[in-house]
Amino acid sequence: MGDHGRHDLVRRSYDTVAETYAARLLDELAGKPLDRALLASLVEQTEAGAPVADLGCGPGHVAGLLADRGVKTVGIDVSGAMVALGRRTFPAVDFRQGDLLELPAADGEFAASVALYSVIHLAPSELHGAFREAHRVLRPGGLLLVAFHLGSEVRHLDEWWGHEVDIEFHFLETGRVAKALEDAGFAVEMRMERAPYAEEAETRRAYLLARRS
Ligand SMILES: C[S@@+](CC[C@H](N)C(=O)[O-])C[C@H]1O[C@@H](n2cnc3c(N)ncnc32)[C@H](O)[C@@H]1O
Repeated sequence: MGDHGRHDLVRRSYDTVAETYAARLLDELAGKPLDRALLASLVEQTEAGAPVADLGCGPGHVAGLLADRGVKTVGIDVSGAMVALGRRTFPAVDFRQGDLLELPAADGEFAASVALYSVIHLAPSELHGAFREAHRVLRPGGLLLVAFHLGSEVRHLDEWWGHEVDIEFHFLETGRVAKALEDAGFAVEMRMERAPYAEEAETRRAYLLARRS
């Protein structure tokens, strides 16, 4: 199957689970102190008043947290249902529907971006293209925070929380993601790995903070 067909399945799968995903995860940041700390650090290092993007934003809770901190935030997701949910829940955020490989944003539009657990649905060969796009829409010197599940397995789901889906989760090795970021023009400034919190799926997680050189 081609990339567009695969992305279409991801989009349809998230359209299907969007309401359940939001019901389960909208408040998750309350139990994720390290994630909140990384987001606070990103905001602290970003020019006040400048727009920040949440790439693959899901129901928009991370974008919503940033907006609560006074950040002008743009949430982008391939799933129309996620975008609709975000608009309903976080009116202060500018939500746009679009693909990580073809972001609906202007060159240099954002002062910083986050991509939390969204590149896991790309084929690993697409990582480089996604990071080139993230690079295009970032200002020089801007930070990108990327999160993913650590490992090398590919997990396929055809049922998720009682919904019929067809979706793959690509676990990733930190070195491979760091290399793709560097190849796309980023300098990696921080690598963090952590165990799952009690409420999370039982996977080890990695976070990379990279700066557009
Ligand atoms: C696991 S959820 C993560 C949502 C949110 N970032 C979070 O941390 O909870 C993955 C999200 O990435 C979006 N996504 C997956 N592939 C995408 C693509 N190619 N372009 C844009 N969004 C994508 C999905 O629709 C979904 O909302």
